[in-house]
Amino acid sequence: MSVPARALPQTVNLYEKFGLFSEHWSPKVVADLNGQQVKIARISGEFEWHAHEQEDELFMVIRGVLQLKFRDGERMVHEGELIVVPRGVEHLPVAQTEETWIMMFEPASTLNTGNVVSERTVSELEHL
Ligand code: NI
Repeated sequence: MSVPARALPQTVNLYEKFGLFSEHWSPKVVADLNGQQVKIARISGEFEWHAHEQEDELFMVIRGVLQLKFRDGERMVHEGELIVVPRGVEHLPVAQTEETWIMMFEPASTLNTGNVVSERTVSELEHL
């Protein structure tokens, strides 16, 4: 059975998307699939400790270096590398460069601050 004709899928240029905003720690949605979202964020300095009770969270570094602190250690994630933080694991993202560009892949319902609600929580994400 053939799929009805419809518009061809669009390519997404991440570098172009990163150029459309400048604020830090404010994830933007660049793709939706299967109830999940691909989000990008420009980050600088330190975020805050949190965990996601139900969701694993994938971080990929597009530019710069991301340090992920855990209660019992840390990981450095470099350009072109990704890491998955398992659900329930407390983490603290820290940009190791003046500015780091990250891509995240997680359910659409995932809040950036997880189980913590603060002035840094962004609940309505802009689509780019
Ligand atoms: Ni998180």
